[in-house]
Amino acid sequence: MALIHLIYISTAKKQYESAELDRILESAVRYNTEHAVTGMLLYVGGCFMQVLEGEESSVDAAFARIRSDSRHDGILLIQRESIPQRSFDRWSMGFRRIGPADADAHPAFAPFFKRNFKPSSMGVKPGLALELLKDFGLSQREIRVG
Ligand SMILES: Cc1cc2nc3c(=O)[nH]c(=O)nc-3n(C[C@H](O)[C@H](O)[C@H](O)COP(=O)(O)O)c2cc1C
Repeated sequence: MALIHLIYISTAKKQYESAELDRILESAVRYNTEHAVTGMLLYVGGCFMQVLEGEESSVDAAFARIRSDSRHDGILLIQRESIPQRSFDRWSMGFRRIGPADADAHPAFAPFFKRNFKPSSMGVKPGLALELLKDFGLSQREIRVG
């Protein structure tokens, strides 16, 4: 059993309201629960940042679904590597919508919080991305299906 995590950033096709974000999460949670995939999704200023963790084949299959989703594009894979254990095992997909106030607490990620942020222009340090996701993961909400 090879446990991996995968982190990516993407650009949302438009500004999504809560209802659309809930639909994305419901679909994510349904698949992830069935395939023991866990993780965290952040939505900020028209961009997504997500970490997926689980069995290699399940994570890759989830990412394939995500890649082909037309609600975002410009997907930039930041990190995909083996991990000894999960960091987000409480959530089949945690979620946080991040606002400007959150930016102050995370100056290292200031470019990520700016308007018109382009994922491809961000020289993300993988360790920093995971740190940010973990930080927000401490106070996120969870959507359960079924
Ligand atoms: C930002 C974003 C994150 C997503 N995260 C996941 C995820 O973690 N797992 C998953 O299975 N689908 C995820 N999806 C949803 C899938 O891309 C898509 O909704 C799914 O392939 C549709 O399948 P369904 O009709 O079976 O729900 C995500 C979509 C977006 C836009």
